Amino acid sequence: MKWPKGVTIKEVGPRDGLQNEKTFISTEDKITWINQLSESGLKHIEITSFVNPKWIPALSDATAVVTGITKVPGVTYTALVPNLYGLERAFQANIDEVAVFMSASETHNLKNINKSIDQTFPVLRDLVRETISAGKISRGYVSTVFGCPYEGHVDIDSVIRVSDRLFEMGIAELSLGDTIGVANPKQVQEVLEVLLKRFPADKLAMHFHDTRGSALANILISLEMGITIFDSSLGGLGGCPYAPGASGNVATDDLLYMLHGMGIHTGVDQNKLLHASQFIQEKIGRTLPSKSFQAASSGMGGKLGKTV
Ligand code: HMG
Ligand code: MG
Repeated sequence: MKWPKGVTIKEVGPRDGLQNEKTFISTEDKITWINQLSESGLKHIEITSFVNPKWIPALSDATAVVTGITKVPGVTYTALVPNLYGLERAFQANIDEVAVFMSASETHNLKNINKSIDQTFPVLRDLVRETISAGKISRGYVSTVFGCPYEGHVDIDSVIRVSDRLFEMGIAELSLGDTIGVANPKQVQEVLEVLLKRFPADKLAMHFHDTRGSALANILISLEMGITIFDSSLGGLGGCPYAPGASGNVATDDLLYMLHGMGIHTGVDQNKLLHASQFIQEKIGRTLPSKSFQAASSGMGGKLGKTV
């Protein structure tokens, strides 16, 4: 088997991880946590979203978070943005990168952003254009690639249609979302076989939620298919409030444990992240889902490895 020498991890915990939490994490604690993440070797951190705070109250302090963190040179800080009003707020806070998002399935798109797929295209086209003309990077997400909480099966043609349009708009990279964690490795292989005929591997990222415990298996097959960018969330926090039953992303801790064990370089220091996981677990007030974090914090298996 031929594995890549290194992969890029895009930490989404402060956004995807916190957006669905019932406990409001104070702005000060969010900032402390993001600063810890910034010092771990992670180069990409999605730190908040500039959406309607009535829809996502957990991230209503987006401006204070972006302006309050200590930016580390070489780290790209991203925020999720749904429309031009959100973009204005994100620019005022001087965000580095803007992530736009929509779904491959109509019902999830409507529930999540209150628009049909066709109504969403012009909104995102304007967003991407304005982002690029401001000299910033635009990242795209397509949700429900592997299944929709409302419609079930999602046709690959719908995924292709949305992906084509997002790339035509000028996004730098597309993250393929298994929003409700239903994918299996065979399905991932089939979807990637189709998409990799249209888009280069280095423009695709995988965003697996771990609802059913198959995220690491899905990452392994994605690695085999040539994908080297993965979104993950520290401790396994997360979920989409408009996707019933969705739980957290694959835990960054578990992903690092697997990759470093395989000798795949990430540049991230697991021990530094261990402290960041401990910090956010205390603030959230419940046990984090990450298995390797729980094993490490209970002293099982000795010390975690260092940066590989
Ligand atoms: P809407 O209600 O249709 O918006 O929401 P509107 O344009 O009709 O405006 C209604 C009100 O919202 C107005 O205020 C606007 O000012 C305000 P009012 O006059 O009522 O006082 N508003 C805003 N306020 C702050 N920032 C904004 C903004 N826009 C409007 N940007 C909207 C449309 C898209 C805004 C709404 O549906 C929304 O915020 N949705 C976001 C939902 C969300 O964040 N979901 C989770 C993230 S997606 C995800 O988790 C999936 C992902 O992880 C990948 C995967 O796992 O698959 C990315
Ligand atoms: Mg997500």
